[in-house]
Amino acid sequence: AYTAEPFVPGRGGLQALRKAAADCRGCPLHREATQTVFGQGDTDARVLLVGEQPGDQEDRQGKPFVGPAGRLLDRALAEAGIDPEQTYVTNAVKHFKFTRSGPGKRRIHKAPSLREMTACGPWLAAELALVEPELIVVLGATAGKALLGPSFRVSKQRGMLLEEEIHGRPARVVATIHPSAALRADDREAVYQGLVADLKVAARALS
Ligand code: URA
Ligand code: SF4
Repeated sequence: AYTAEPFVPGRGGLQALRKAAADCRGCPLHREATQTVFGQGDTDARVLLVGEQPGDQEDRQGKPFVGPAGRLLDRALAEAGIDPEQTYVTNAVKHFKFTRSGPGKRRIHKAPSLREMTACGPWLAAELALVEPELIVVLGATAGKALLGPSFRVSKQRGMLLEEEIHGRPARVVATIHPSAALRADDREAVYQGLVADLKVAARALS
């Protein structure tokens, strides 16, 4: 089976993890992507946010949530009363998965498979063990399935404080939509306000 497990160092901090993840060959996604996009932020953060996978901009820059979805997320966090500087942000899958299409062969995001999410899980487990957040914010269906299992439904489980066991530890979780959903939707403002409302539940759980 695909797995990152043999690449994850048994000890060391964020820099050791990031360095080792740069050479991960745990699944085929490293072949087409530019680089591993590891998590980033304050390892003492009270809240850890989990997205799906890096997007085009993240793949180029090597940092999570630096493209349009990241800017929208930062705005929503601030509006909900969570300082983006005091968070740790990462993704369920650390390499960009895409197909090329159209005349310019633009890189179009493709959802990771369950096998790829499972393969990449040991990196997320290592980040959770390092940061030990008080609260995990799950951004969208992929992150939800990766952390809470394949029966996770964002429409049913969003916007409430969940008590779950994640990678063998009890965890408090608030799920919401993926921020890029608020970039694409017909009713963008309403979808954005829904994201902010869910993040306010997270903010309250931290106070
Ligand atoms: N979308 C994600 O899920 N993660 C990123 O890092 C950027 C966009
Ligand atoms: Fe390793 Fe995850 Fe990249 Fe696959 S997606 S190669 S498991 S870091």
